[in-house]
Amino acid sequence: MNRIQLCIVVVCSYAVCAKQMTDIEALASAPTRCTYEYAFDMYGAHCAGLRLNKIPSLRGGIEILDFSDNKLQEIHDDTLSSYSSIKFLYLSENQIYSIEENAFFYLSNLQTLDLSKNVILALPESIFHLSSLRKLYLNGNPLLHLHFSNLKLSRPIQAPIELLDISECKIKVLPEWGILPQLILYNISNNPLTSIDALHFSSMCKLSKVDLTKSIDNLKLCDMRMTITWFQEKKVYFQLEDYSKLNSREFESCRKEEIPANLNATYHECRSLYRQEQSIRTSRRTWLTIGGGLAGFLVGFVLLLYVMHRHNVTQTKRAEKETKKIPPDGDRQASAVLLNNVA
Ligand SMILES: *[C@@H]1O[C@H](CO)[C@@H](O)[C@H](O)[C@H]1NC(C)=O
Ligand SMILES: *[C@@H]1O[C@H](CO)[C@@H](O)[C@H](O)[C@H]1NC(C)=O
Repeated sequence: MNRIQLCIVVVCSYAVCAKQMTDIEALASAPTRCTYEYAFDMYGAHCAGLRLNKIPSLRGGIEILDFSDNKLQEIHDDTLSSYSSIKFLYLSENQIYSIEENAFFYLSNLQTLDLSKNVILALPESIFHLSSLRKLYLNGNPLLHLHFSNLKLSRPIQAPIELLDISECKIKVLPEWGILPQLILYNISNNPLTSIDALHFSSMCKLSKVDLTKSIDNLKLCDMRMTITWFQEKKVYFQLEDYSKLNSREFESCRKEEIPANLNATYHECRSLYRQEQSIRTSRRTWLTIGGGLAGFLVGFVLLLYVMHRHNVTQTKRAEKETKKIPPDGDRQASAVLLNNVA
């Protein structure tokens, strides 16, 4: 009996041991350093989930940096300054609370910036001037609202932001972004908004979707009337958890107002800004095409000149050879004179 019990204990402890070993082994085999790979034709560094509290020195030329799920707390002006080639930067799920003013200044190629799920208190203005930035994720920064009222932006915002996510940020009053002519998707869900103003959305003339889920539940129906009218007028899809309130008699009986002139004015200002940017972009593209065409023409022309030159050279050489084969008459006469003298 004793031996059997002992045996069982040994087998059991071995089994427990084996299980623990696999866990430890799994941990040990997980990468502890950033890895590099090509994805979508881009060179990327993957450092996610490595419990790092600073960005290690990385290879140059990276276009993607995934540093999510780490322990980064501060981004200094020089933290990212040597990686100006980055296009996609993922810094979500860190412990970032401080970003220095010029932290992103050198990232002129940056298209997507994910700062979600951190504890960011204040945003540096330089983010809004990144010349290629299209997607900005700030969601899940619970303290963001503290300094939003202090956010001093020089307007208009120069970054061509198309997606802005400030969901789950405990925002009560939406920040004044000024005109965002490229914005298409605006996520303001899960914020305890205390008011909503149609003017806020009139400066986003390309807006096609607003996520308002769980953000306007505490607002008075009639206070939302103008904003809803504006969304309907401009064909903006607004997402709510429950639309039934909007079909209620209470909402129907709110005083109907005409869209005020200042909304129209802001909207048209946004439209003209959008058109300006489009034409700048088109003319840049045109110039690039013209430039490219001209360069191609020049290369072709130089090649042609070269070929003609080679052709000429061979022709002259051939001509020279032929003249050498037939000595000139003068020479013949000279030799005749010589022969005469000898004779
Ligand atoms: C908006 O954000 C919430 C929470 O972050 C997310 O669940 C939702 O899918 C987002 N909405 C859109 C339209 O992307
Ligand atoms: C604003 O524009 C809408 C149509 O886009 C129009 O119905 C409304 O009368 C305009 N408001 C003013 C004050 O011009």
